[in-house]
Amino acid sequence: LWTASNIIDDAMARVREQVGRDRVILGLSGGVDSSVVAALLHRALGDQLTCVFVDHGLLRLHEGDQVMKTFADHMGVEVIRVDAAARFLGALAGVTDPEEKRRTIGRLFIEIFDEEASKIADARWLAQGTIYPDVIESAGSKTGKAHVIKSHHNVGGLPEDMKLGLVEPLRELFKDEVRRIGLELGLPHEMVYRHPFPGPGLGVRILGEVVPAYVELLRRADAIFIEELRTYGFYDKVSQAFAVFLPVKAVGVMGDGRRYDYVVALRAVETVDFMTARWAHLPYEFLDHVSRRIVNEIDGITRVVYDVTGKPPGTIEWE
Ligand code: XMP
Repeated sequence: LWTASNIIDDAMARVREQVGRDRVILGLSGGVDSSVVAALLHRALGDQLTCVFVDHGLLRLHEGDQVMKTFADHMGVEVIRVDAAARFLGALAGVTDPEEKRRTIGRLFIEIFDEEASKIADARWLAQGTIYPDVIESAGSKTGKAHVIKSHHNVGGLPEDMKLGLVEPLRELFKDEVRRIGLELGLPHEMVYRHPFPGPGLGVRILGEVVPAYVELLRRADAIFIEELRTYGFYDKVSQAFAVFLPVKAVGVMGDGRRYDYVVALRAVETVDFMTARWAHLPYEFLDHVSRRIVNEIDGITRVVYDVTGKPPGTIEWE
């Protein structure tokens, strides 16, 4: 019988049998899948679990703190937070090509994760939030974005001599099942029903070079958009929504003064599979309200535009 609690009991028993008394490492990103694995393994293994959370400095507003609050403070999970913003921003300086940015972020991510993981000397297992659609996807094409996504998400570059075994307790589950398990394990609804967020984070939502000042501006604009989507009850109606930073300047007026600052685009889509998507027909009054808040509250942004491109021909992300 498929109930969330049966699946959890079964998964816990299997994990215990697989790893015994050994230590397990998990790369925690704050996304749904790795969060559910963390909650599940914590319940099954208690302090045998060590999570490594690499904060690449390209997360959304307060996101890193929220991950720590949920897992370390509330649930008592051992989480090693690595504040690696400076390293990532350093490596990204001067890099403008989208795929080169993804590769740079992915490579550094694995490097830093490996550094941390190899400090955990007694680790024998590496847990991953692989879910069934990932299994199918990696069985298919070896090129294109799907592969890039996998190579970033599923950390695969651990040193040979570590010889960690893989623990993938969600391998047979679909996303909606993972979510139900997450709720049953006590994760907050907000975390379990979060929109997808790309591994490279805000790095691919700043067009061209990732400049630290742009990250700050984008983070604030994105937070306003998401906050208002929640307030108006639209967050759960759209599949994914976010702001994109456009490094071009546009003129505006503020009181008696003239402003000449940056542009932010808002993107919201409705989709079932993320392979095709329709731009969300959010009400004009709502967009008007969000746009005013962003321009009034963020010094450095003079203009807000709304993306009315479907996928295809567009992609969901701008890079
Ligand atoms: P696109 O832009 O290809 O996005 O229409 C489809 C879905 O994939 C997400 N996405 C990524 N996720 N690493 C990720 O982990 C990436 O490099 C990446 N690029 C796109 C995107 O947010 C959307 O949900």
